[in-house]
Amino acid sequence: MDAVRIYGGNCLKGQTEIQGSKNASLPILAATLLINGICEIENCPDIADVYHMQRLLESLGCKVEREGTLVRVDTRCLRECDMPADSVGVMRSSIMLLGALLARIGRVSMEYPGGCVIGARPIDLHLQSLRRMGVVIEQHEKGFSAEAARLKGAVFRLPFVSVGVTENLLLAAVLAEGVTVIKPAAREPEIQALCDFLRMAGAKIEGKGSDCLVIHGVESLIPVRYSIPADRIVAGTYMCACMCAGGSIFLKGAPAGDMRSVLDQACRLGAMVECVPDGILVTGRARICGPCVLRTGCYPDFPTDMQSPFMAVMAVCGKTGRIEENVFENRFRIVPELEKMGADISIVGNTAYVNGSRRLHGAIVQAQELRGGAALIVAALAAQGTSIVVNRHYIDRGYEDIVSHLRELGADIELA
Ligand code: EPZ
Repeated sequence: MDAVRIYGGNCLKGQTEIQGSKNASLPILAATLLINGICEIENCPDIADVYHMQRLLESLGCKVEREGTLVRVDTRCLRECDMPADSVGVMRSSIMLLGALLARIGRVSMEYPGGCVIGARPIDLHLQSLRRMGVVIEQHEKGFSAEAARLKGAVFRLPFVSVGVTENLLLAAVLAEGVTVIKPAAREPEIQALCDFLRMAGAKIEGKGSDCLVIHGVESLIPVRYSIPADRIVAGTYMCACMCAGGSIFLKGAPAGDMRSVLDQACRLGAMVECVPDGILVTGRARICGPCVLRTGCYPDFPTDMQSPFMAVMAVCGKTGRIEENVFENRFRIVPELEKMGADISIVGNTAYVNGSRRLHGAIVQAQELRGGAALIVAALAAQGTSIVVNRHYIDRGYEDIVSHLRELGADIELA
């Protein structure tokens, strides 16, 4: 079955090594298209979304080989063609190929990337921004074709911060004619990793980590070997697992410097968190000390991807908390599933009010998207009795073998 069975109540103990970042790997794999040669990407997580990105690169004529967590991409035989709709459809990050392909071969046709249950996930800002760089885009019912002789730098005053748009414009700008200014740029660690990769390849990018990126176009880039940083959202998810189940675990390689807002909230929920050079030690079940309020926002604010795992923690520990979701319009899909486990959560607009006074009990629940699915596993670790989380494939999109990792930490969990 495409499911996970968890018997709640075991404390967690031991160490788990944090995988490479999904949301850094995807734009960096897309960025290899800008380079005529062989790039080697180390610490690249073996997850479904990366697999789909590899397939998309192969459909464009690239040779892609994986040896463990090393992915080698050879783009010397890159050709223009339609990307397979099944991979484009299931993964929004396919939109990130747009900027890179227009920069390298000047033509792209693709179907609209999939939205998902957390929101409509439109690409309007991607398309209107690229048009300002000289791209001619013809849209039709199912997708669009885009063409540009040579991309031209432009000054952008974006109407809101978008991770994907910042990444697409970065990829379009590094080989464009002239200077491109992106403001406000997203400041996520994954954007900073993309800037590092591109600068290693010879791109001229100023303002890394700030809300204003300035890119001076260059003629070409050179192949590089780059190691993907650890995944801050996966690290935060395992931290939430410990805060639900109790015990003490070491998150080896966790990027504490990129997780300040998440660690602050974990401490407010009563967990003990110790940051050391090679990871984070998390001890103790969460017990809300005072009223807990989470507000999601752009980095360095609390990340929307951690909202569902923290809702699971709040649902199992102690008192009432409040969660404001300010990034996606429909990111409370986990609520009805947590209610099947006995949680008491009410939603008013973009705010969820969590009453954590009840002990959760096992239930059959449905994962509907990546982070919500992981959060259901987190909640089930603390629930009384057996839970079955169905639609495991959503979770496999972003977590390398979460069942084995949690079992090694002492959870009573198995594939179902
Ligand atoms: C990236 O999505 C991440 N995905 C998401 O992680 C993450 O939640 C999100 O950034 C916010 O941090 C990857 O990096 C692969 P946005 P992205 O553009 O780029 C709206 C996960 O679980 N918008 O910053 O799609 C959009 O609808 C995933 O790993 C437009 O309206 O996010 C949203 O409301 C989930 N028009 C807001 O902007 C556009 O053209 C921010 O989205 C583009 C975006």
